Order: sequence, then structure tokens, then C-alpha cells
Amino acid sequence: MNNILVRNVRVVDANKDINSDVLIIDGKINKIEDNINLEDSNIRIIDGNKKVLMPSFIDLHTHLRDPGLTQKEDLETGQRAALKGGFTVLCPMANTKPVCDNKDVMEYVLNKAKELDLCDIKQVCAITKELDGEEIIDIPSMRKYTDLFSDDGYTLFNEEILKEAFKLSKELDFKVLTHCQPEFEIVERDLKILEEIDGNLHICHISLESTLEEIKKYKNKGLKFTCEVGPHHIFGYGLEYRVNPPFAEEEDMKALIQGIKDGHIDMIGTDHAPHTAEDKEGGAPGISNIEVAFQMVNKVFKENNISLNKLSEMMSYNPAKLLELNQGLVEEGLRADLVLIDENTEDFIDTNSFVSKGKNNPFNGQKIIGKVLMTIRDGKVAYKSEGDM
Ligand code: DOR
Ligand code: ZN
Repeated sequence: MNNILVRNVRVVDANKDINSDVLIIDGKINKIEDNINLEDSNIRIIDGNKKVLMPSFIDLHTHLRDPGLTQKEDLETGQRAALKGGFTVLCPMANTKPVCDNKDVMEYVLNKAKELDLCDIKQVCAITKELDGEEIIDIPSMRKYTDLFSDDGYTLFNEEILKEAFKLSKELDFKVLTHCQPEFEIVERDLKILEEIDGNLHICHISLESTLEEIKKYKNKGLKFTCEVGPHHIFGYGLEYRVNPPFAEEEDMKALIQGIKDGHIDMIGTDHAPHTAEDKEGGAPGISNIEVAFQMVNKVFKENNISLNKLSEMMSYNPAKLLELNQGLVEEGLRADLVLIDENTEDFIDTNSFVSKGKNNPFNGQKIIGKVLMTIRDGKVAYKSEGDM
């Protein structure tokens, strides 16, 4: 019984907040209407009372560690963690072992993801061979697999390669995702180059007020590019815990939250970066956060009077736009990629209950708000919270 009727639910996306019934038939949102009449009894009915139905979340920035680093995470655990967190689309970064800079690794990931059939996977391809920053890969030959290229984890210091990537991004229509450390200096450099030669740029995980100011400056001039912030950089500050970019100061965090309100920051990218306890002790940077990302963001947004519409825009609609997916809204005719949430439940981060192999999250035990009750992908229930549903 794959067809579903959600009765009397609050429907929220980037541009609506209404109460309605929502009918899902054959994987699509069939009808959004009050009091839908059911002739077919072969439809699962879900009581939406006091619940919110939103587009499922889309993560532009995930580390799934497969192939080669599967002691930290693999395609199955990472995607199950994502579904638990309400995400149905993931863009795994290329810093696997071997690096995803060639067709064999790319096909391995895409085939395994297809077999698992858990989330939609848009694998990111490296820009330089083995992420060495020295030698550009054969981008045209990899373009057929993906429109996302990034050396994430490593800053692209070589300006010639950056310029070549920008130039190709226009010719071949793909996005360049940049990891920037030292953050301000690299963002400043990249935006200057972007203004000169044009390209399709998305700036990953910004963390500093100064960076945001630089971004604002260029956005106000009309330069087109996007940027993201990680849930952890708006949730905490000043922690010694190692993540890249590092936790910043309170003023930075406040500025980022203001940047969200003002519309200068386009989306949330989790930068879910699972590690083993051993690797973490050895200094590996990263936070495992995908299954609590929504709850972390929801808490911060509530405390700062930022609407659920805005959350939906930043976690679904804007990433969908960037990925050119006809998703990210709750509208009749769209594929039913949805998440049913309880908006106000108080919950606590409990890394022991993580589905992800990575239990590395410095906020363990801290309060978060909201809960993912059910994740629906392509009209099918892909995750359901035990006890709640
Ligand atoms: O904290 C981080 N961890 N930042 C990155 O950019 C890379 C990531 C990882 O792969 O562990
Ligand atoms: Zn990064």
C-alpha cells in the first residue's frame, strides 16, 4: 500500500503555510485540498493533526566515506542516517579512498547507491587529481556523471586551476564548490576572480562575520554565486572541538544568523563528517550531524524568530534550485519527497542512538527542538520514527 493520504496537516514550504489534506499517489503529490474524499480504501491514512508536512531536506554537502573509509561511514549507514534526519538528496564529497576523481570510483558510488535505493545521490567529483591541488582532472569526461565539482576538505590554492574550473563551469554548465581556509582570504580571492572571469561558484561552510561581509559586498554588487552554512556553526561557538572551518566566536555566529535573516546565506549544508573515535582522537576534523541537523537548525531558528518557511527555503528549495531538481516544494504534480515533523518536541542529541557510524558530535546531550516523524521519498515511507508513528 504505497499510496498515502495525510489528513489535516500543516503544510509548509518556502512559500506556503496552510492547513490541508495531502494525497500521495504513485509517488507524486496528487492533491493538496481540504477534506479529500477517498473512494479507494487501499490508501494509508496518516493523521496529520499537530504535525507539519514539508519538502524533504536536500544536503549539498555530505561525507559518506565510501569507498575506502567505511570504518567511518558507508553508503548504507550514511543514507539511513540522512533519512532519519529527513534528507532524501545527498551530495557526497569526493574525499574518499581512492578519491572520486575518475570514472571507476564515480560508477562504484552511483551503482551502489542505485542498488541501495535509499536516497538520491548526486556524487561530487574532485577538481584535482587525488585532491592534490596540483593537477586538474579531465573535467569534460566526468561532466556526464555530475554537475558538482569540488576539492572539499582541501583549499584550492592554485589560482590557474581555479580559473580553469570557473571557465569550464560556464562552458559545461556545472558548479564549483569551494572549501576555503584561511576562510576570509580565500573567499576574498575567489570572489575577486569570479568577478573577473565569471563562473558558477558555491562557497561551502562559511563561519566568519568577515567572510559574510565580503559575500554581502559582492552580492550587493549583483555578482551571482551561492553560499552555505553548517548547522554547527550557527548552533555553537568557541569550542575546541576540531571541525573545518573551526568553531568561531559568538559575534561570528550571531552575524551568520543575521545573514540568514537578511537572505545573504542561501542554504544549510550539513558537512556531515563522520569519523571513528580513534580518528577523532588523532585530530580528524569533523562533526557527525546529519540525523540531528534539522533539529539543530530548528532550535536556532525558533530562538531567533526565523520562520519554518525560511528553514524550508534553506534546507530544501534553495539546494533544489542549485541542483536543478524539480523538488523542494509541496506542490501538486511534484514527486512526493516529503518529511513529516513535529515542530515543537524537545529532544536531546544522543550520539549513542545515531544510525551513522560517526558518533563524533560535541553537542551530545544538548537540547534540540523538533522531530522527524517520517521521511517519504518518491511516495514511499523511507523512514519512520519508532513509537511516534
Ligand atoms: O570538518 C570537516 N571535515 N571539514 C571538511 O571540510 C572535511 C571534513 C572531512 O572530510 O572530515
Ligand atoms: Zn569542506
